[in-house]
Parts: sequence; structure tokens; C-alpha cells
Amino acid sequence: MSLRINSFEEYQISYEESTLNPEKFWGDIAATFQWNKKWDTVLDWNFSEPRVKWFDGGKMNITENMLDRHLEKKGDQIAFYWEPNDPNAKQKRITYSTLYHEVCKTANALKALGIKKGDRVCIYMPMVLEAIVSIIACARIGAVHSIVFAGFSSTALADRINDAQAKLVITADGLNRGAKKIHLKQMVDDALKACNSVTDVIVFDCINCNADMLEGRDHDYTTLIQQMPDTCKAEPMDSEDLLFILYTSGSTGKPKGVVHTCGGYMVYTSYSFENVFQYEENDVFWCTADIGWITGHSYIVYGPLLSGATSVVFEGIPTYPDSGRFWAVCEKYNVNQFYTAPTAIRALMGAGLEVVNQYNLESLKVIGSVGEPINEEAWQWYYDHIGKKKCPVVDTWWQTETGGIMLSGLGAHSPMNPTHAGYPLPGIQPVLLDNNGAVIHENDVEGYLCMKFPWPSVLRTTYGDHNRCKNVYFSNYEGYYFTGDGAKRDRNGMYRIIGRVDDVINVSGHRFGTAEIEDAINTNEFAIESAVVGYPHAIKGQGIYAYVVVNDANQTTTEAIKNALMNSVTAGIGKIAKPDKIQIVSGLPKTRSGKIMRRILRKIAEGEKTEFGDTSTLLDPSVVEEIVNHSI
Ligand code: WTA
Repeated sequence: MSLRINSFEEYQISYEESTLNPEKFWGDIAATFQWNKKWDTVLDWNFSEPRVKWFDGGKMNITENMLDRHLEKKGDQIAFYWEPNDPNAKQKRITYSTLYHEVCKTANALKALGIKKGDRVCIYMPMVLEAIVSIIACARIGAVHSIVFAGFSSTALADRINDAQAKLVITADGLNRGAKKIHLKQMVDDALKACNSVTDVIVFDCINCNADMLEGRDHDYTTLIQQMPDTCKAEPMDSEDLLFILYTSGSTGKPKGVVHTCGGYMVYTSYSFENVFQYEENDVFWCTADIGWITGHSYIVYGPLLSGATSVVFEGIPTYPDSGRFWAVCEKYNVNQFYTAPTAIRALMGAGLEVVNQYNLESLKVIGSVGEPINEEAWQWYYDHIGKKKCPVVDTWWQTETGGIMLSGLGAHSPMNPTHAGYPLPGIQPVLLDNNGAVIHENDVEGYLCMKFPWPSVLRTTYGDHNRCKNVYFSNYEGYYFTGDGAKRDRNGMYRIIGRVDDVINVSGHRFGTAEIEDAINTNEFAIESAVVGYPHAIKGQGIYAYVVVNDANQTTTEAIKNALMNSVTAGIGKIAKPDKIQIVSGLPKTRSGKIMRRILRKIAEGEKTEFGDTSTLLDPSVVEEIVNHSI
């Protein structure tokens, strides 16, 4: 049986089969992979606990499915083209066979450092092939990787290392980001002052900056790997053994470690990759995400390799050396499927058509969008000028927690409607719930987006705290997985995501909890109290607006205070979370019971001056007036 759907009719048939008999549907798909031992049961689940097990009793190793399985036929096929940050630097390419041996060498190095099945390994790396090799090497020996985006600060890194109790960190001396170089190793050294679980650090030399090495703890990647044998037996894993942890932000508290397991994640990322992008033999796929986010995990590393694809890995940024870089790379590698975020599309739109028109984009067949709602103007520009009106736009809605794409067109087979993610993939059963938690059955409605049935790559738990998983995702609406998003369903049953309905904001496709940013601001000595909200931003989708009550005994200038507050966010989370606007206020609008009325602050951030709805519970209405008068 093939994984591939080849028409909308086939999609409809598959969808029906997947809901009528999910176990047969997913069992047949799982059977196309390589298992050491077949599963006992396809699915065992209960959303109330929550408990979800797919292919339980099955034994496998995901890396044998990504590499070994392809070697005979595809050993010499390119797995990745690596495009460096500097277009004049040397590009690299790696075949399936070389990738296999590099992974095995790295896996042996991890073993030599005492890393065993179940141990956690933190990966804090630039977009280099060695990062991908490291990820797969962990999976080879059953170590659980926790990748931390290299734009996070040392404090954020330390939090994640400590939560996962990682034994090993794999990093680089630094990274190239456009014209800048960022010294990663220093951040790791700072982080490790606050971590005692880490015994070893492997450092890849990426920018040649002679990073300080701590004798006994730090190892040079290349030297260490060189001496290792180039084959390594894959660790047999249970389907439900942990594959990785990935931290993501929620409404409250520190980011939580979303846990994905081996069997289901394997089946779903490969299935969704092939169907959404309609990848065909010899195509070149390019996902511009960073490996530090779920999109990079599922559609740079796992999905494409499981499907035996050839992909591009890009070290740089869309605007370096100029805003034509994405299109130059598409032309250079004859990219067939291109997958990026609306924020990048909006930024590149601004550069004008002259830039785009310098490049030949004939090779493109499918163009994708991910990470945030795509506005109509950006959708149309992408469709007209990048896809030249002949490539379907797949607007893929999904989440760190869902592991893979949930709502999307399947290449050219599905009907398209700008700004609508569209229909659920086979196996995905979305529902919209109303304010009372009742399912809305009609079309042309709006509600809270939930899932009523498990799919193979649903998160299994939040690391170290199962109750948190239950409370955040499975308790708002008993018996359902709650996504945190609001959505519309149009007359034809197509879904359109409205956005988050909780205190999560989406800035350039990056997820932050407003509470997390407030916590970072509040560490500053000037800050007494703060409230952060999102507001519409032309390029980033949402911008960050912070209202801060400060203690200014020394009459410091407002500019200096704002800078200090910004620095606290950079230190606590990273530059990516820096507020776009900070307003110093004398008080925050609160209810008599002391709750901050964020609804009002959101309206002010959107530019509203008078209409705030019901304000009868406000303790001191004059606070609102003052904030409005000085809003930015
Ligand atoms: C948002 C990224 C609209 C949504 C894969 C979701 C989207 C959050 C889309 C998850 C889309 C993602 N249209 N909104 N196509 N894709 N989102 O965990 O709010 O980084 O809940 O996963 O991004 O972000 P995350």
C-alpha cells in the first residue's frame, strides 16, 4: 500500500476510512515501515487521563527507517544540500550513505561519553549538517534529544537543561547570522553555571573563534567523531519510548517540555510530508524553518528522511546578503516544494517584485505556509509572484503538540481558499466547541478548535509533569484535546484559523506566553509590575506591547529604564522576545479582586481609545484613561 493520496476523491475515501476504522487505516500505513517486531495493538487511548499509545508492543528504531532502509536504492542520492549563510562560502552536500556513516560515528561518540538509552541530550546548534547528524545520532542510540533554538538566552537554555536534566550538551563555538556572528559557546558556559546535570559538552567549530574549552568537560566535535567506527547498531525502541522533548510556551508558567514518542511520530511525519507536499522521487524540498522549532524537527529532519527525500538546509536568513536570497536558493537547487512562514513572505513582499523577478522560480510545484495565520494580501502575493499562479499554496495549521500538519491542502488536489488552512488530513478529527463546551455541528460557524480523536503524533505528556499536560490540553473540554486556537468553519467545511484564544502570542511565527515575558521584565530592578499583550503588526503578525509600572526613586530617564527592561527580556528569553513597545504606566487596570484586565490592554495596544466594553468591574477607571492618553 502506498502512503500517497493522488486526487481529492482519494482524499475523501481515505478520510472516511480513517474515521470509520482508524486502527486499520493507521495499521496499514505503519506496515509500510520497518519494524523489528510488530505491534500488539494499534491504538489504546483515553483523553481524560490522558493516555495515548500507538502501535504499542512494536519495536523499531526511527533512524533505521530514515537511513538504513534507503541505503540499498538511495545510498548515493543527496539527502541534504547545505547552503551556507555566506553565498560565496562553500556549499556542502551529503548523500544518504555518508549521512548514515556520520550519524553512526556521532552515535558511537555519544556512547563513548556514557550516553545511554533514555538519557537526555540538549542540542543548541546553528543550522549546520552536524546539528542534523547529532539529532539522528541521539535517536540511533535511544537518547532523548531536547533541541533549544540557538536564539534563546543562556537563562532560557539553563531552564530547559535543568527541566530535562540533560547529561550532555551539543553546541558550536558560534553561529553566522547574516553579517553577524553570535558566540554560542559562551552562552552555554554561562548556562552551565546554573546546571549540575551536565557532564560533557561537545563543541562543533562553526565560526572558528577559538572558544574556551574546559578540560575534561568540553570536547571538540570533529576530533571526537573522527576516531569513531562508522557503523553503530540501532537501539531497539518500543513504539512509545521517548524520541524527543521540545519546549514550547503556554499561557502560564515556564515553557513546558512537549514529549513525542517513536512509533506514532514516525508514521505521522512521513505520511503528512508526502501528502501535503506531494513530494515525488527526485524532487528537492526546502523548509526554511530552524531545527529549534517543531517545523524543523518534523519537516527538515524526520519527515523528509523517512520518505527518502532530498532537501535543502539553509544556514542563513532571508535578507542576507539581500532580500532575494530565498529566491536565489530556490533557483540554485531547483527547489520543487518550498515551505516558509507568513512573516518571511510579508517581509520579502516589501522588497518589491524587481527582486523576485531576477530569479527563475520555474521549478516550484507546491508552496507552503506555516506558523501563524497568513493574511490575504500575503497569500495572494505568494500565490501570484512566487507560485506564478500555478503552484498550490498549502496553508498548514499545526502545533508543537500535534507533531505534524493537521489541517492543510494536499498539494494541488484540494480546493483552495486564501487564508483558509482547509480540510483535516486523514485521521484528524477536528471539532469546534462553543462557549459552553458543546460541539457545533453546523457549518459557517466559529468556535474553539479541539480534536476529538487521537492521531499518531499527538503529544504524550509534558516532561516530568503529566498533570500539567492534562490541565493545559485535556481539561478545558472534557474528552477533547484543546488546541488553544479559535477557528471558523466555512460553508464548505474548510477551516480558517483565527488565532490564539489564550495568553499565547505569535511573533514572527514564534510562540511566547505573555506571562513568560512579564516574568523576564519583572526580574529588572525598575519593574514593580507588568502586563504584556500582543497587537497586530504588519510584518511580524503580532508585536509585543508591554505596560510596566516602575519604581524610579533615582529619576532615571524613561529611555534608560526602557533599555534596561529590554535587556532583561534579552537576558531572560532572548532577543526574539524583545517588546516592540514599552509603555511606562503608573498602574494597571485591575478588577476589584486584583485581576489585570488584559482585554482592555489589548484594545489599547490595538489603538482603541474609547470603546472598552464592560468596565464596571474596574477598580480605578482613571488608570485606563491615563494609559490611553499616553499609549504608543
Ligand atoms: C499558530 C508551529 C494559522 C497557531 C507549527 C498554533 C497557525 C501555533 C498556523 C502553534 C497556520 C501554526 N495558520 N495559525 N497555518 N500554523 N499556527 O507550536 O496559533 O510553534 O496554535 O507550531 O501557531 O505554534 P507552534
